[in-house]
Amino acid sequence: MLAWRQTYSAQQMSRQFLERYGWTELVGLGGPVPSRECAAGFLILGPDIEYPAHHHEARELYLPLAGRAAWWQAQSGWREVSPGETVLHASQEPHAMRTRSEPLLAFYLWRSANLEQHAELTGRRGASVSAPRSASLSSAASSSPPSPDTSEEH
Ligand SMILES: [Fe+2]
Repeated sequence: MLAWRQTYSAQQMSRQFLERYGWTELVGLGGPVPSRECAAGFLILGPDIEYPAHHHEARELYLPLAGRAAWWQAQSGWREVSPGETVLHASQEPHAMRTRSEPLLAFYLWRSANLEQHAELTGRRGASVSAPRSASLSSAASSSPPSPDTSEEH
C-alpha cells in the first residue's frame, strides 16, 4: 500500500501548501520496491500553489502525467511544462514549480548514493536563490531576478 508523505513541516510551509502537496514512493529506501541507489514515485500538487525553490544532492527527473504547471530553473526562468515532457534537475540545482487551475500529478526519479537526504528549501539559512514569484502559465518564460520567498520559514 502506498503512503502519501510530506517533506516539510508547518513551520516551513503554509497550511495551504501542506493541504495541497504530497508524494509517495514506489522505489527507494522506504518504497515497496527497495533500492539504495534510486528513488521513484509520484508527486501531487493541488491547484494554485507554488512549491518554492528547493534543491537536493540527488539528480532528478520529472515526468508530468496530468496537469500543466510552470517549472522554474535559473537557466530558463519559469516555463510551462505539459504532461509527457520531462524536466531534469542537476545535483543541488534550485528548482520550483507552480500550479494554476489544474492540479499536477508527476512521476519523479531520484538518483543518488544517499537516499536518506531530503530536499532543502533554497534561499533560507543564507542560501542563494528563490524562484521569482511572478510566474504565470501564459507567460511562463521569465528572466526576472530571483527574490526571497516570504512564507514563514518555508
Ligand atoms: Fe526536486
